[in-house]
Amino acid sequence: MTGALLEMRQIEKEFPGVRALSGVDFTLNAGEIHSLMGENGAGKSTLVKVLTGVYQKDGGTIRMNGREIAPRTPKEAQECGISTVYQEVNLCPNLTVAENIFIGREPKRYGWIDWRAVNARAQALLERLDVRIDVTRTLDHYSVALQQMIAIARAVDIEAKILILDEPTSSLDEQETERLFKIIRHLQKEGMGIIFISHFLEQVYTLCDHVTILRNGELVGAYETARLPRLELIAKMVGKEVGDVRTMGEAGEKSEPKEEVFLEAKAIGATGVLETVDMKIHKGEVIGIAGLLGSGRTETAELLFGIHAIDRGSLFVKGKPWHPDGPMAAMRQKIGFCPEDRKAAGIIGDLTVRENIILAMQAKEGILRHIPYAEQARIADDCIKLLKIKVSGRDQLIKNLSGGNQQKVIIARWLATQPDLLILDEPTRGIDVGTKAEIQKMAIALAKKRGMSVVFISSEMDEMVRTCTKLIVLRDRRKVAELAGDAVSTDALMKAIAGGAA
Ligand SMILES: Nc1ncnc2c1ncn2[C@@H]1O[C@H](COP(=O)(O)OP(=O)(O)OP(=O)(O)O)[C@@H](O)[C@H]1O
Ligand SMILES: [Mg+2]
Repeated sequence: MTGALLEMRQIEKEFPGVRALSGVDFTLNAGEIHSLMGENGAGKSTLVKVLTGVYQKDGGTIRMNGREIAPRTPKEAQECGISTVYQEVNLCPNLTVAENIFIGREPKRYGWIDWRAVNARAQALLERLDVRIDVTRTLDHYSVALQQMIAIARAVDIEAKILILDEPTSSLDEQETERLFKIIRHLQKEGMGIIFISHFLEQVYTLCDHVTILRNGELVGAYETARLPRLELIAKMVGKEVGDVRTMGEAGEKSEPKEEVFLEAKAIGATGVLETVDMKIHKGEVIGIAGLLGSGRTETAELLFGIHAIDRGSLFVKGKPWHPDGPMAAMRQKIGFCPEDRKAAGIIGDLTVRENIILAMQAKEGILRHIPYAEQARIADDCIKLLKIKVSGRDQLIKNLSGGNQQKVIIARWLATQPDLLILDEPTRGIDVGTKAEIQKMAIALAKKRGMSVVFISSEMDEMVRTCTKLIVLRDRRKVAELAGDAVSTDALMKAIAGGAA
């Protein structure tokens, strides 16, 4: 017997056509925050799902405190003390906070649910996590960040010894992330073992003591975070030499915008959505919309794509006045919009990768025009190659792709429509570091080689500065600054966002 809280040994998992895990070892100690890292499709979620009884392993053993366990369902895993909080919070928005925490296991008295006890216990539980909110209000009163903390409260109440967080921070802002980290550290001190999956390197380095790296379903190794330089970690993830990785992050030459303006927005706004924004988007330009979460970045994109009606200001496409009347009208002007929310973006799980890619193109050309299979196949294969989408083939169901690879299919869907203006809202969220650089390069290449205009929205300042030739900075739903040419720097951007610049 050893002292480890969790020992997974020689884990095997195969899906039709994919060996998702081969002989993977993973060890977690009590009081440790351990990161699982690897490229999109490396097998991180699969390893976690084997542990939590979502998938059945094909081989290997799992031991907790030396005793073998074989959870067949998430419920059985919970009974062993293993809890998971997924990126999408699976709680009920119209139940109260307390109900959400105790649903399915309410404290009973004489056979009746004892609501006073439920509320009191929920309150105490949240206070232990330093969250002070009214537990009798419904969940939809609270932000996604708080909902996530409520999900954690629910998870840890089930006497969890192991807590798994699979990309929990992708929709949180900096402060919310800080708060979540505080809670995680608190649970660590109480002796819980925590598995943390994230594509944000910074977060992994701030939070985790150890990191286990997977590549193509195989174990690369387990390391102490403090002794593993960033470049080495990336090199191990992508299977390259450190020297090759060093040049990977450099996006190279930026695009050179043409004189010609594709779209101009003059003081556009929509009541309750956006105050005022103006911008000129040139042909062949990669323009960034920057600002904190909630500053109006996504809303600006949605106005340009006709999702919200503009009720002031005016828009011009190639110099002609244009009043966007819904997304279809925007698509006819050759505008494409790849939204940030993968689920809302309409991944249709039971369709193949090819069908998901063709979807927007088909909508644009009309349902009646039949696109021959050979053409569909060619377009799909081009996109799969360009974006390095990890699939067993174009006709694989999209629901069987890893999270990051689903995201790439959505980008592909809009590329396939060959727009003149492509709006990418957080295109690299949930994407591994190597591919992030590829997507930045792709945005630049589309502008340079095809003369496409690209609107790039991201929370990561480095990536904005590396990719864009012009930045529109928003605060409180209005434009507060514009940086162009040499003025595009992380420093200037930070100042503009914080309110230091004119
Ligand atoms: N239900 C499934 N059916 C078929 N293949 C699957 C299924 N689930 C996962 N896979 C495949 O297993 C491999 C590993 O996927 P997994 O979701 O574990 O990756 P990941 O490391 O979590 O990636 P990401 O960073 O993109 O979330 C991928 O090739 C994926 O397509
Ligand atoms: Mg995953």
